[in-house]
Amino acid sequence: MQVSLVILAAGQGTRMNSDLPKVLHQVGAAPLLHHAMQAGRALEPEVTVVVTGHGAEAVAKAARAFDEDVQTVLQEEQKGTAHAVLQAAPLLQGVAGDALVLYGDTPFIRPETLQAMLEARRRHAVVVLGFHAADPGRYGRLVAEGETLERIVEWKDATAAERAITLCNSGVLCADAGRLMQLCAAVGNDNAAGEFYLTDIVALARAEGLSAGLVLCDEAETMGVNTRAQLAAAEAAFQARARAEAMENGVTLTAPETVFFALDTVIGRDAVIGPNVIFGPGVTIESGAEVKGFCHLEGCHISRGATVGPFARLRPGAELAEDVHVGNFVEIKNAILDEGVKVGHLTYLGDAQVGEFTNIGAGTVTCNYDGVMKHRTVIGKRAFIGSDTMLVAPVTVGDGALTGSGSVITEDVPPEAVAIGRAKQVTKPGLATKLFEKLKAIKAAKAKGQE
Ligand code: UD1
Ligand code: CA
Repeated sequence: MQVSLVILAAGQGTRMNSDLPKVLHQVGAAPLLHHAMQAGRALEPEVTVVVTGHGAEAVAKAARAFDEDVQTVLQEEQKGTAHAVLQAAPLLQGVAGDALVLYGDTPFIRPETLQAMLEARRRHAVVVLGFHAADPGRYGRLVAEGETLERIVEWKDATAAERAITLCNSGVLCADAGRLMQLCAAVGNDNAAGEFYLTDIVALARAEGLSAGLVLCDEAETMGVNTRAQLAAAEAAFQARARAEAMENGVTLTAPETVFFALDTVIGRDAVIGPNVIFGPGVTIESGAEVKGFCHLEGCHISRGATVGPFARLRPGAELAEDVHVGNFVEIKNAILDEGVKVGHLTYLGDAQVGEFTNIGAGTVTCNYDGVMKHRTVIGKRAFIGSDTMLVAPVTVGDGALTGSGSVITEDVPPEAVAIGRAKQVTKPGLATKLFEKLKAIKAAKAKGQE
């Protein structure tokens, strides 16, 4: 059965007190919107439509960054959830199968839950995702009998008896795409909020003799983000889940509560992650790699057998091949390190390529930026870069070449050559003693003058 997604993301999120549209606030280093899109993606949707409004351009751009095939449509004025869904109608015209409505600010709905809703669609024309709320607050209430749903009543419009119901509407629902649009078009706005409520389609469907059904999920899944405090709570919930999942997948976390994952972090079995490691977006780590404590990683790949840290920073484009060793206080950006490369200490490698089994001495810096442009450093295989070498890019060091410690390398070094670029050492016997005596005499004279 074919399925399409309509993701509502037009709201401003007034209670966030922010210039940023709500769905662009981040959890797990990814916009809230991406979380909803990721849950939906598991259903392999035919068409995905994101309904934008506040900050439409930025929201559309973020949606495309997650899925370049996504369609976006602008809801110029936020007249309610049914009105929002209707904006997607032209894009779903002629698309067969079901449409599933998700909210961009509700990041934790599990793909399995969505699958259960599609399953329930065999029995009901409209399927709504509900949950039992510990504190039902202002959620819409589900008037139901068993799995059969009669109608949804919004809190603002509910009677005291209806407000006493603890079975609540998550907002997620599913119906045949054509029928969903037809029902939404029939929704009016004669209610306490003067909005076109998506929730009204249940009663409309029932009035047409169609059946509406209910699928239940855990309250934790329906957690929405409306305030900064809820954003922080969502972050905590996301991290707790990501840590548990990593460990289930066979990753060792020495101190799980201090490791922070991103939505797209991928870590292979038997990898070991030390304490206080932070994953930004776009990190993949192969089986058996080790990341020691206090590392900050984003946009990088770490291969099997590699070790990183403690205190290393890998930035976008850092690619570590098998058995690479990156030690403490090393920063790597947009650089490919081939198999067995060692970068032990206090080094910056940016816009670089390093051949297999090359050793980079402590304090090496690729001087990649001239103030205007970035330049590449290319180092061959089995080379030896002496400690404190400045590699002024663009520059190439050949296979098996060596640079002397403290060199400033401004010209290409041919394979197997030694390059030394530093002042020659001058040694003056006995001069140190004389110098210290002179300095002590000056100090004593000064002290006397102050008496
Ligand atoms: C909605 C449901 C309520 C449910 C609750 C769950 C309706 C009428 N009510 O209420 O039953 O318990 O969600 O969280 O659907 N949006 C648009 N365009 C609009 C209006 C809303 O894109 O014109 C988006 C918002 O950005 C948000 C989502 O739809 O992501 C839900 O809208 P919101 O106004 O928060 O609905 P609630 O009042 O919370
Ligand atoms: Ca809401």
